[in-house]
This record gives sequence, structure tokens and C-alpha cells, in this order.
Amino acid sequence: MRGPALWVTYALPALVALLACSTAQPAPTLCDDDACRCDPFTRLICNCTRDYDEVTLRPDGPYRVPSTASGIVIDGCSRVHFLSDTIRGLIHLRNVEIRNVAHVVINERALAWSPFSRDSELNPGLRIAIHNSTVNEIGSHAVQGRVDDITITNSRISNLKPFAFSSLLGVKNIELGNNIFDNIEIQAFKKFSTLNFVLRGGEIGFIPSRFLSDVEVTNLFRVEGVTIEHLSSLAYLVHSPKRVLIESNKIDTMDGDGFHLVSQGPITFRNNSVKTLKKGALFGFSVDLDVLSTFGRQELLLDNNTVTNLMPSSLIFNRSSLTLRVDGLNINVSCSCALAEQWRDMLKEQGGIISCWYELENHFISLPTYVNSRCGAFKQNFWIYVVVGVILVVIAAAITIFFIVKHENEKKKKLQIVMPDGKTYRETEFHIVVERAELLTTDL
Ligand SMILES: *[C@@H]1O[C@H](CO)[C@@H](O)[C@H](O)[C@H]1NC(C)=O
Ligand SMILES: *[C@@H]1O[C@H](CO)[C@@H](O)[C@H](O)[C@H]1NC(C)=O
Ligand SMILES: *[C@@H]1O[C@H](CO)[C@@H](O)[C@H](O)[C@H]1NC(C)=O
Ligand SMILES: *[C@@H]1O[C@H](CO)[C@@H](O)[C@H](O)[C@H]1NC(C)=O
Ligand SMILES: *[C@@H]1O[C@H](CO)[C@@H](O)[C@H](O)[C@H]1NC(C)=O
Ligand SMILES: *[C@@H]1O[C@H](CO)[C@@H](O)[C@H](O)[C@H]1NC(C)=O
Repeated sequence: MRGPALWVTYALPALVALLACSTAQPAPTLCDDDACRCDPFTRLICNCTRDYDEVTLRPDGPYRVPSTASGIVIDGCSRVHFLSDTIRGLIHLRNVEIRNVAHVVINERALAWSPFSRDSELNPGLRIAIHNSTVNEIGSHAVQGRVDDITITNSRISNLKPFAFSSLLGVKNIELGNNIFDNIEIQAFKKFSTLNFVLRGGEIGFIPSRFLSDVEVTNLFRVEGVTIEHLSSLAYLVHSPKRVLIESNKIDTMDGDGFHLVSQGPITFRNNSVKTLKKGALFGFSVDLDVLSTFGRQELLLDNNTVTNLMPSSLIFNRSSLTLRVDGLNINVSCSCALAEQWRDMLKEQGGIISCWYELENHFISLPTYVNSRCGAFKQNFWIYVVVGVILVVIAAAITIFFIVKHENEKKKKLQIVMPDGKTYRETEFHIVVERAELLTTDL
């Protein structure tokens, strides 16, 4: 019994395989490409060299990605191109990593992956990572399906198409760190749920409306240290985060309702430097109705922000779901009593944490301090009083001197009449007249 069983389990498949090999060479896969290899863990590793520096990843045909691939690691190539549907059939795939690549194109649906018959977050998901690369394009629907993590760091993304990241399932982390985004189209991140969304460092020129569109973030939403030229209205359409942190960003212009964000917890807007904060820029923040009814209003904290162009209406907020706490707001405008007047109502509500630029000493001082020392009818007119006082004193002095001089001259005139010596008194007008009179008398 044992003999034949063994023969069936081991020898027969070997024989079949041998026959298959001898009859038809299997088509080469990317494992056979000069730039790539496949390791014993069935990972496809393309570590480019100078001679072989381009890789194209395709789903079928010669040099396709092998269907057994559990990972795709690409390092140091000059050009990498993911064709559409490259990973669709790779059921063992868990990991796609691109690093140090100078030119990456990810076609439409190239990283769409939902290999399991039933959609469930319990199925294993992909990790997609891009580091230190220039990505020329991430096409529409490029990344879809069952994804655990997306990490893009120290990279340049030249074109991010609509729906580039959409219809994702079971996402835990999206982390975008120190990237430069050149051109972002609307709805780049569309309709999915993630545990955390973190955008940290780097530069974004223009964030269009619906950059994140209908994205659910269930834990942390954080935008930190990013340099942004223009943040459009409704740029972030996000709901459900338990914690919202918008910190240390440099924003040139922030439109009204830039963050349209329904939070489940407190919202912190801290240490940002904004040049122009348009009317209603913070008005898009609100709180989830369930949280509101159970835990009440949540706090919107404005701490240590510096804003150059703003009006009190820039700070209007949703009063029915949030309470505002201002723990430091520097209005980057020279202090003046008119400015204080403009902010009077806000100050009444918020106390002494709104500051203005005090030019005499080159630092920010709190508006109330300024008001106490400089504003009010007498303080404002102080210098006028001083100037008027000085003028009065000068006039009085001038009058006094005039009379003294006149008095002196009168004395001299009397002297002259007594001793009419023309040469001694030549310098006075009075004297010249007298001299002519003398000449006349001598002629006679
Ligand atoms: C590729 O090669 C470089 C240099 O030989 C090495 O440092 C790097 O770890 C390799 N990458 C992979 C993924 O094997
Ligand atoms: C980043 O990638 C470029 C190629 O695009 C490479 O020349 C450079 O050495 C990489 N930098 C690091 C720190 O790996
Ligand atoms: C505040 O933001 C600036 C950049 O605008 C950053 O350099 C600094 O470290 C931040 N401070 C804190 C305490 O986060
Ligand atoms: C306040 O903001 C300024 C300017 O952005 C920054 O330099 C400073 O470190 C911040 N301080 C704190 C305590 O965050
Ligand atoms: C204020 O927040 C509540 C609760 O989230 C929301 O129902 C309402 O529409 C918001 N008001 C405005 C004007 O957005
Ligand atoms: C404050 O305004 C001046 C000029 O108006 C500008 O140069 C400076 O960068 C501004 N500071 C901040 C922190 O925005």
C-alpha cells in the first residue's frame, strides 16, 4: 500500500513537471529580467544597476510579475512603470515598496487589489510604500481595494489624478511625510475609511476643493508642518476623527470652510502661521451629532497662531457644536487703537490672548495691554497736548524775547541821541535813518 501512495504523491508530480519543462519553456517572468530577481520568499526584487535601470511591471505576457509574488521591492531604478491591473491577480501579494526611483508612473488601476471573493477587513491587506522617489503620475483609481497602509515619504508627486486613492477597504494608516506635491486634482483621496490620516512636512502649492472627499478618519487626523500656498474651500471633506490636530503649518491663503470636518472630539489649531485667513476659515469645523448629544460641545483650540490678514469674521465658528478657546493669537499688524476697537467684542469674549505687533519694541504685545497704555481719549491725544504745550511755550518765549530786545533797542536809541557817532551804531536800521539825517544836515 505505502509504495504506490508515495509514488503518487512525489514521483508523479515530479515527472509531470519534468515533462512540462522539456516540452515547453515557461514564459520568462520579471524574475528573469536583468534588473530583477526573486528571492526564496517569493519576493520580486528589482535592484537596478546602471546597465539595467528600467523596470516595467505588467500583469501578463513575457516578463510579467509572477503570480506567486508576495512582495514587490524596487530600489534605485531610474524609470519604473506600473501598467494597469498589474497586481490584480496576485493573491499572495502583501507589500509594494518603491525607493530611490527617479521616475515612477503608476497607471490607472495599476495597484487595484481585491483578490478575495468576499470583501472583508479581516482579509490580509497590502502595504504600499514609496520613499525618496519622484512619481510623475498616480493615475485615476490607481490604488484601490484592500490596503492596510500607505506611506509616501521624501518624495515628489508631480501629478495626482482624481480618485487616485479611492474605494479602499480596511485602511489603517495613511502617512504622507515631507513630500512635494506639484499638481493635485480634485478628489484625489475619495470615499474610504482609514484609522489615521497624517500629512506631515513638505510642500503643497494648491490644494483644490475635495482633495480629500468623503473620507472617514476614525482616529487621528493630523496636518503638521506643511507649507501650503493655497488651501481651497472644502479641501478636506472629512468626518469622524476622534482627534484633529492642525499644527505648525505655514499657509499662505486659507479659504472659508477649508476644513469641512465633522469631528468626534476636540480640534486643535496650533502654532500655524497664516498670511490670509479668509472669512469663515474655521467655520467648517463641527462635531458629530451623536457625540454632541452624549458628550456636549467639543473644544476648538486656537493656540499660538500668527495671522497677518484677518478680521474677526475669520474666526467665526460653529457655536452649536464647538466652544472656542483662544490661547494665543498674534495678529501680525501694527498695534493701533483702531485695531483694538475692531477686535473689542472678540477681546471681551476671549480675554487677553490676542496680540498685535508692537513696532517700537519689535514684538507682539497683548491688545488689552496696548489699549491700557495707549488708547482712551486722553492717551490717544497725549502727543497732541504735548505738541500744543511746546508750541505755547515757544510762543511765550518768543514774545518775551521780542519785548526784551525792543527794550534794549530803545535804550540804545536814547544813547545814540546823546552821542551821535554814526560808525559805532551802523548795524541797526534805526541808526541808518539817523545817519542819512546827519548827512543831510552836513550838506546844508
Ligand atoms: C540594492 O542594492 C543596494 C546597493 O547594493 C543596497 O544597499 C540595497 O539594500 C539593495 N536593495 C534591496 C531591496 O535589496
Ligand atoms: C534618493 O534617490 C535618488 C535617486 O532618485 C538617489 O540618487 C539618492 O541617493 C537617494 N537618496 C537617499 C538618501 O537614498
Ligand atoms: C511652531 O512652528 C514652527 C514652524 O512654523 C516650528 O519651527 C516650531 O518648531 C513649532 N513649535 C512647536 C512648539 O511646535
Ligand atoms: C509659537 O509660534 C511661533 C511662530 O510660529 C514659534 O516660533 C514658537 O515656537 C511657538 N511657540 C510655541 C510654544 O508653540
Ligand atoms: C454646526 O454643527 C452642527 C452639528 O455638527 C451641524 O448640524 C450644523 O449644520 C453646523 N452648522 C453649520 C452652519 O454648518
Ligand atoms: C508678519 O508680517 C510681515 C510683513 O507684514 C511679514 O514679513 C512676516 O513674515 C509676517 N510674519 C508671519 C509670522 O507671518
